[in-house]
Amino acid sequence: MTLTHEEEGRAGDELARLLLEAGALTPEWAGAFGAVPRALFLPDLIWPYDMTTGRSVPVSRGEDPETWERTAYADVPVVTQWDDGEHEGTEPGTVATSSASMPYVVAVMLRDLAAGAGMRVLEIGTGTGWNAALLAHRLGDANVVSVEIDPAVAERARAALKRAGLSPEVVLGDGAAGWPEGAPYDRVIATAGVRALPPSWLAQTRPGGVILAPWGTHYSDQDALVRLTVAEDGSASGTFRSMVEFMKLRAQRLDWDRFHEHVPAFPGDADVSRTKLTRADLGDRYEPARFVTGLCVPDCAHVVNPTGPNASRAWFFDLRTRSWAAVDFRTGRPWSTVHQSGPRRLWDEVEQALTWWSSQGSPALTRFGLTVAPDGTPHPWLDHPDHPLPFG
Ligand SMILES: C[S@@+](CC[C@H](N)C(=O)[O-])C[C@H]1O[C@@H](n2cnc3c(N)ncnc32)[C@H](O)[C@@H]1O
Repeated sequence: MTLTHEEEGRAGDELARLLLEAGALTPEWAGAFGAVPRALFLPDLIWPYDMTTGRSVPVSRGEDPETWERTAYADVPVVTQWDDGEHEGTEPGTVATSSASMPYVVAVMLRDLAAGAGMRVLEIGTGTGWNAALLAHRLGDANVVSVEIDPAVAERARAALKRAGLSPEVVLGDGAAGWPEGAPYDRVIATAGVRALPPSWLAQTRPGGVILAPWGTHYSDQDALVRLTVAEDGSASGTFRSMVEFMKLRAQRLDWDRFHEHVPAFPGDADVSRTKLTRADLGDRYEPARFVTGLCVPDCAHVVNPTGPNASRAWFFDLRTRSWAAVDFRTGRPWSTVHQSGPRRLWDEVEQALTWWSSQGSPALTRFGLTVAPDGTPHPWLDHPDHPLPFG
């Protein structure tokens, strides 16, 4: 079964209605959501992300057209490529490397971008081309440029845009360089997560223009949407809006293999101490504690592994030296054992960060912001750019 043009329009309108009700979509973008069918941009084999199980499952248009069509208009992210295109077969690969983002997040980002008539927009990460199509439908083909690093993905997006009757410029290249040929832009929107904001995006945005990007630290996979306004001096500043999780810019993915040499033997010569903080104090996915710790403890990656029914070990690795820390948590025990090794005392830094955050009244994510210097150096702050975080 394939949906007719009218049925596709109705499915798109229904998705738009749900997103309007949820407050994600603004009325000015509702028309584009109805007019540009998401299904046109999806390949025949897709892997929707199942929110309840946390797994991606294959759906083939040929084998199960009804589920495929339903998925196309469901509010779920859909993986469209694994392992930079190296992966073959139906089962999910190792790393999801291209996708059609969750419609709710697409709507929120378009809302926060606040792009209006006559504005020029640069999108980083074309992916399926759906977001570029929404932008082009509202702002006009000539005002939208989208950069995609993967040749096969870019080619598929161009073909889908053509089928939709749209022709924004799709550039094959590294979006970290922006696209100087089309600058200056009024808006830059990144649909891949960034760990270091490329200075080219600042340089190519006109003063007063806006950069909207999923930004985060290597402390965790989470990103927070940050909306930066570019100043006359070439810096940019703004607040974090909401937590999201995006696949990262290719060159900014965290390579976990780099930590193999960090802990040749456990506990080795590590110092031993105790902490009263609990596993819950570290925060979970999308919780501010985790994101804020990343802001306060730069160049640190962490992961929590279960070690038993009520036990887990949190690992912390320094990205600059071979310093590491490990904390063994056990539910119900009033303290946990800490091991630390190397010139950086990573757990001490994490504990200081969490203690500081708590002493400030555990401020929400939206009270934090970021100033990025023209050379890309990030300066996180609380409440106001004049109040930098007391770490760094
Ligand atoms: C989440 S998807 C983008 C979703 C897309 N906007 C849509 O509407 O379907 C992220 C995309 O960013 C691309 N990407 C990753 N690193 C990139 C880079 N350095 N430059 C340009 N694109 C990049 C990936 O290949 C992937 O297609």
